[in-house]
Amino acid sequence: MPTMDNTLSHLLMDWFTRHQRDLPWRRTYSPYHVWISEIMLQQTQMERGVEYFNRWMRKLPDVEALAEAREDDVLKLWEGLGYYSRARNLHRAACILCSVHGGCFPSTPEELQKLPGIGPYTARAIASIAFERDVCVVDANVERVCSRLYNIDTPVKNRDTRKRIEEICEALLPPGQARIFNQAVMEFGSLLCSPRTPGCPVCPVREFCAALREGVVDQRPVLRPPAKPIFLDMATGVLRREGRFFVQKRLSDDVWGNLWEFPGGVVEQGESPEQAVIREYLEETGLTVSRPAPIGRFKHSYTRYRITLHAFFVEAETVAPVALTAAQEYRWSTWEEVCSLAFPAGHRKLVEHLSLLRKFEMETNS
Ligand code: ADE
Repeated sequence: MPTMDNTLSHLLMDWFTRHQRDLPWRRTYSPYHVWISEIMLQQTQMERGVEYFNRWMRKLPDVEALAEAREDDVLKLWEGLGYYSRARNLHRAACILCSVHGGCFPSTPEELQKLPGIGPYTARAIASIAFERDVCVVDANVERVCSRLYNIDTPVKNRDTRKRIEEICEALLPPGQARIFNQAVMEFGSLLCSPRTPGCPVCPVREFCAALREGVVDQRPVLRPPAKPIFLDMATGVLRREGRFFVQKRLSDDVWGNLWEFPGGVVEQGESPEQAVIREYLEETGLTVSRPAPIGRFKHSYTRYRITLHAFFVEAETVAPVALTAAQEYRWSTWEEVCSLAFPAGHRKLVEHLSLLRKFEMETNS
């Protein structure tokens, strides 16, 4: 005689078997594939994740290839996904896996969590999905599904609520089936029990759903109010000399660590973006630049920051010796090389815009 939880779990797993997406890491379930996919999917839409995953695997098909890659190339493959510490940690973890573990992954959450960038969620995802260990995973999809099924009315990010959800999932997990069960709940949350338009009329577990019974599906999960955005103006300057562009590589322990950029920084109170770019150049490089000519404004978000990047062409009368204060390295790069470097989002939009301008300029001149 099946218990209620048992029936609920099996209905979700049956649904998954019939409706799961054909995702590339589901073809092999190799630990390397599962690891890369789980890290990529954090803060990333599935479609975009798949595109990046396939491109990554063409270049870095296994953990040895990742360990042997240059960090700059790894960051370039990650460019556009944001939160670049994830890419740096993937690289560091691959080096440890190859030098300490002979290229093999440990299979328990405890051992996996010792690797850089692998927290409790990722460790449990790899242990269950790749190694079929009996541990549950709780991501935002799982939180939503549980909040609705059990009509949880406390904020889902509270410690006690999290603990309750973990206990619910542990009780629901059929031994030996963690690979399918965990993915079933995540996939169900992502495809059917979605945040704004859940498919309750066709839901296979609707008779178990307490929130549906109470008419509060749209009020679950209970979320904390979002953090207030902080608006920030930044300025940057593109300095060109004899067909080459001045770029610098950020410090490794800084935000956007080890990524490349054109010098610049935050526009201070009472300062114009033009004044800021001149000041920042001097502070960061020792170079005196002048005549800032606007290129455009590029908007992007970073955590709770809403950044407007004011970009300028700048000129340098004389090029004094460069003295870097905010970067580890600089180069005078050809445009082709600029395009091959990894930039943070705002600067990447600037590079794409300049590429477009160059294309039109070349077409006009030919
Ligand atoms: N989100 C993160 N990992 C996932 C997985 N394995 N299946 C479905 N959604 C996911």
